[in-house]
Amino acid sequence: MASFLTLPAISTRPIIPSAFYLKRPIFQSPPTLHFKQNRFFVSSSSAETGYREDSRSNTIDVVADIKSERIVVLGGSGFVGSAICKAAVSKGIEVTSLSRSGRPTYPDAWVDQVTWVAGDVFYVNWDEVLVGATAVVSTLGGFGNEEQMKKINGEANVVAVNAAKEYGIPKFIFISVHDYNIPSFLLSSGYFTGKRKAESEVLSKYPSSGIVLRPGFIYGKRRVDGFEIPLDLVGVPAERFLKATENFIKPLSSLPASDIFLAPPVSVDDVALAVINGVLDDDFFGIFTIDQIKEAAEKVRA
Ligand SMILES: NC(=O)c1ccc[n+]([C@@H]2O[C@H](COP(=O)([O-])OP(=O)(O)OC[C@H]3O[C@@H](n4cnc5c(N)ncnc54)[C@H](OP(=O)(O)O)[C@@H]3O)[C@@H](O)[C@H]2O)c1
Repeated sequence: MASFLTLPAISTRPIIPSAFYLKRPIFQSPPTLHFKQNRFFVSSSSAETGYREDSRSNTIDVVADIKSERIVVLGGSGFVGSAICKAAVSKGIEVTSLSRSGRPTYPDAWVDQVTWVAGDVFYVNWDEVLVGATAVVSTLGGFGNEEQMKKINGEANVVAVNAAKEYGIPKFIFISVHDYNIPSFLLSSGYFTGKRKAESEVLSKYPSSGIVLRPGFIYGKRRVDGFEIPLDLVGVPAERFLKATENFIKPLSSLPASDIFLAPPVSVDDVALAVINGVLDDDFFGIFTIDQIKEAAEKVRA
């Protein structure tokens, strides 16, 4: 989170961070500081103070909007969650993770920069994780029997969305799943019904800031019991092949369930960067497809 320590740079000294811009060359009164929704606003307008040309003055008029982000990643120790935590830390975003296992055991440097809370989303004391957060990112989901899939893909996320809303968190980002072009009457598995239930909870509680990402197969290096499974050995060539042949196979994508074979895989880093784009860009909300996830990732990578 940005601290008051960053503020002296907006005085009369010539060192000006890129988030600041000069509005007028002169101001008469000291800047005022506001703190609203985890953002600092520092302003001093010449309209307020009366603008006067004075080449001897060495003061400047600065308007600054310093946005400090603190995100909570539900499932930050998992495959996708850890990529999100790592990407967020690299962008200077403060990160708290909640998962039952808590802090992962591998020694990567970014791990030390995350606050790890061990807890179950159904029983956690939300005061410990949500207070002061600017966004919640949920990677909660997975497979099992029908009951388990409904619970972790659906109910767990509904609980999280409602907790976030109650605590006044302004943004909720949910990692959902591509529908694979499967006819709706076949999408009855607890995995998909759970995901769709969670999606509608996000979009109804956060109509103008909720984000639903719908990736297909996600590849990267998945850690299981101290070992790395290189899913990119499958994902990268498949993604390249589908990209190279997209003009030929596009007509096939109208066939029911064809996306099981034709939906392009997406890298775990792209999913993580699309999340970061969502955290930083308040105009980015709604449902995002595989291609849109890749585009959003590019914006942050650029
Ligand atoms: N991997 C893919 O190819 C893919 C594709 C499309 C969509 N998705 C979706 O992306 C999301 C993340 O997938 P993933 O592969 O990263 O899964 P994952 O590795 O299994 O991660 C799930 C995370 O959720 C945590 N978790 C599970 N139950 C919890 C609970 N009750 N309370 C708190 N934390 C809990 C897990 O930690 P603990 O077990 O320690 O609690 C883990 O950190 C899922 O929703 C999945 O459906 C994945």
